[in-house]
Amino acid sequence: MTLNIGLIGTGWFSDMHARLLTQQDDVDIVAITGSSKQKADSFAAKLPHAKGYGDATAMLDAHMLDAVYICTPPFAHGMFEELCIERGIPFFIEKPLSSEEQLPHQLLSRIQEKGLITSVGYHFRYMDGTERAKELLANRQLALSLGYWMGGAPGGTWWRRQERSGGQFVEQTTHIVDLLRYTVGEVTEVYAAYHEGILSTQDANANVADAGTVTLKLTNGSVATISNTCIIPAGEQCGLHIYTNEGKLEITHGGVKDHTADKIIEYKNRSNPYEKQMKAFLHAVGTGDASQIRSSYEDACQTHRVTMAANASAASGNVIKLA
Ligand SMILES: NC(=O)c1ccc[n+]([C@@H]2O[C@H](COP(=O)([O-])OP(=O)(O)OC[C@H]3O[C@@H](n4cnc5c(N)ncnc54)[C@H](O)[C@@H]3O)[C@@H](O)[C@H]2O)c1
Repeated sequence: MTLNIGLIGTGWFSDMHARLLTQQDDVDIVAITGSSKQKADSFAAKLPHAKGYGDATAMLDAHMLDAVYICTPPFAHGMFEELCIERGIPFFIEKPLSSEEQLPHQLLSRIQEKGLITSVGYHFRYMDGTERAKELLANRQLALSLGYWMGGAPGGTWWRRQERSGGQFVEQTTHIVDLLRYTVGEVTEVYAAYHEGILSTQDANANVADAGTVTLKLTNGSVATISNTCIIPAGEQCGLHIYTNEGKLEITHGGVKDHTADKIIEYKNRSNPYEKQMKAFLHAVGTGDASQIRSSYEDACQTHRVTMAANASAASGNVIKLA
């Protein structure tokens, strides 16, 4: 059976997902919606069978879609999810769920009522190194985690606007928060301090924070800090270091390094996590078995709560308790 897929968003990451989807034998991207029909048409022209739309309702009325990929920026969420929920269409959605605090939680109750299959683009969960880290951590005592995302601010108008992206911690560093939740445990308390004023001086359009440090307490008693900056001129480094009674595990895009008393063993990522993520979702859509999906909308709502709590804490100066 061929699965008919519709895409929403014509940007960088729709392109990445479209390239992977078109490599599958049993998948056809039949439609794409952009912020304008012109953009959707030029994206569709790169695909063998896709038709472009400037309006998601028109796309959904015209096609019997098996699943939708929602790859729009954080501010452009709500309507597309609503349309999929109303029609009972499973969807994959890129992180973060929104730049707003409450919207995902409101959508979640409707997703749960319908029992809809969803998958969220927290691809670190599908990395080989993350799988290995989870195995190693099963027999170790956890004490402290240090996460980081250090880079420059992406260009484009939406990323640098707080109300559009949610800022770096919500938009980007969310991957590290999610990785912490997946490998170490749930977060109960959040305290954040942000630095502002450098990026907004360089770029009059920018109003996101330059940097931040977020302290977290977890249900298992361990503690964590996750820091980020988007003002360094070049390069991007991100990862999570987890300190246990047997040493340090260092998870990065490359894999995981296991530092113990007398040796360092490195497990490199071999497979493509985005491909594994896609296959888990397509398997769920094709069979109804969602057990291979590692980040559902419901689970991602918890990551969203933590990142939004960090923003709230930075604004108020208060510790935010989540449990
Ligand atoms: N998982 C990952 O590793 C990863 C990597 C990159 C981006 N992303 C996420 O993917 C999302 C999109 O990022 P991107 O880099 O593709 O951004 P982008 O700016 O390249 O593209 C965004 C697209 O959304 C479209 N869009 C905006 N508003 C819309 C609307 N109302 N209706 C229809 N289309 C609309 C824009 O026209 C644009 O084509 C973001 O949430 C980002 O965080 C995830």
